[in-house]
Amino acid sequence: MLDPVKVGILGLGTVGGGVVNVLQRNAKEIANRAGRGVQVTHASVRDVSKPRSCPTDGIVLSEQPTDIVNRDDIEVVLELIGGTTRAYDLVMKAIANGKHVITANKALIALHGNEIFAEAQKVGVNVAFEAAVAGGIPIIKAIREGLSGNKINWLAGIINGTTNFILTEMREKGRDFNDVLKEAQALGYAEADPTFDIEGIDAAHKLTILSSIAFGVPLNFEATYTEGITKIERLDVEYAEQFGYRIKHLGFARCTDNGVEMRVHPTLIPASRLIANVNGVMNAVLVNGDAVGPTLYYGAGAGSEPTASAVVSDLVEVVRTLTVDPENRVPHLAFQPGSIAQKVRFLPMDEVVTAYYLRLLADDRPGVLAEVARILSETGISIEAVSQKEPPEGVNQTDVVLLTHKVKEKHLNEAIKRIEALQSIKGAVKRIRVESLH
Ligand code: NAP
Ligand code: HSE
Repeated sequence: MLDPVKVGILGLGTVGGGVVNVLQRNAKEIANRAGRGVQVTHASVRDVSKPRSCPTDGIVLSEQPTDIVNRDDIEVVLELIGGTTRAYDLVMKAIANGKHVITANKALIALHGNEIFAEAQKVGVNVAFEAAVAGGIPIIKAIREGLSGNKINWLAGIINGTTNFILTEMREKGRDFNDVLKEAQALGYAEADPTFDIEGIDAAHKLTILSSIAFGVPLNFEATYTEGITKIERLDVEYAEQFGYRIKHLGFARCTDNGVEMRVHPTLIPASRLIANVNGVMNAVLVNGDAVGPTLYYGAGAGSEPTASAVVSDLVEVVRTLTVDPENRVPHLAFQPGSIAQKVRFLPMDEVVTAYYLRLLADDRPGVLAEVARILSETGISIEAVSQKEPPEGVNQTDVVLLTHKVKEKHLNEAIKRIEALQSIKGAVKRIRVESLH
């Protein structure tokens, strides 16, 4: 066997520590699969005096990541720092220096991937990012290679472990939102800034990446509609269950003749769907290809070793291809760079068609429901189910919960505006989108 490939790791936190542990534990299998051993010679951290979750003997530890990307003897750089400033500079420098790069950083790929891949293509190096989406699930490789014979129609996924963990703990154990978030942080699931998780930004980064490799379009984070889980109340979780649904934070992307639709938001999913039963930190991605039909990928969405599993699989791929002509590698975004559609229409939310769950607080008197139904009917929205709760003794307002059939979001917005203006309706109408995922 050839000499081991020398690797430098930027960041030895949750993911970086997991990578070193997996590389050490499975060194023999990894070398046998890659055709060469892998040796981590250098790693950088912010503070060298901090205790580490992995052994560091044999690794030169420093607080100078630039020294690593500038070393001649290092062939592969693992960017496991996060963020889009320092990480961006280091990745671009590593590429310019002719290093292959592996990253778990979805923010970096979603925001700067087009530029990074173009640069890597020019220099002839690989930039691999399996760990950037859905933690340990090899979803990038599944779409890019396993489904490369298909035209992909749509995909939907629970792609943020932290939010799924929070929603599950709230639903199953009635736990408090902030308590569960703290636990997710302690377990190493959450982003450095956890608002990225709970406001849906992290899932939107991931959906942007999935959409590109599924549909052959440039990365366009700005075009991804983003809504998090902070406005979900226990009450909605309970009403959804009464209708036979679960509320999940879902990423949904579809390619139609009208354009490409990309959105992440809380979604009611029929409780009988497999994906509705994906709980805790687990993620799942449903991909619908024209030849294969629906396929479902399931696994841990965050955490040290599940993410390391994806990073190390990239490392094996990079080591295997070190000798391959750069023009003949699997393209970064699945489609050959010259074939990525440049004139793509990304659909605004107004044009998205979906069904809705609506909750309104209404005066408990005859005729109120009829007024709401009239507005919905005048805006072309038909009702699939309705439920009006019996108010407690002495209270004269009640929750009305409705499920609609599919409608253009623009029309629903008009209807909501008119309903909220009714004297008999109190406060804002709560709206959550519904997907049957047929
Ligand atoms: P983390 O535990 O906070 O580790 C970050 C590491 O980078 C630490 O070793 C830290 O040094 C170092 N670092 C932070 N800021 C730095 C800076 N400005 N300059 C140099 N070094 C710096 O983060 P993580 O959870 O491992 O996440 C790393 C990346 O993986 C992120 O892009 C994240 O989105 C992604 N990711 C994470 C998971 C997960 O489950 N955690 C899953 C998939 C993808 P110190 O240790 O000295 O502080
Ligand atoms: N914070 C992310 C999550 C890490 O919870 O899914 C994995 O990408």
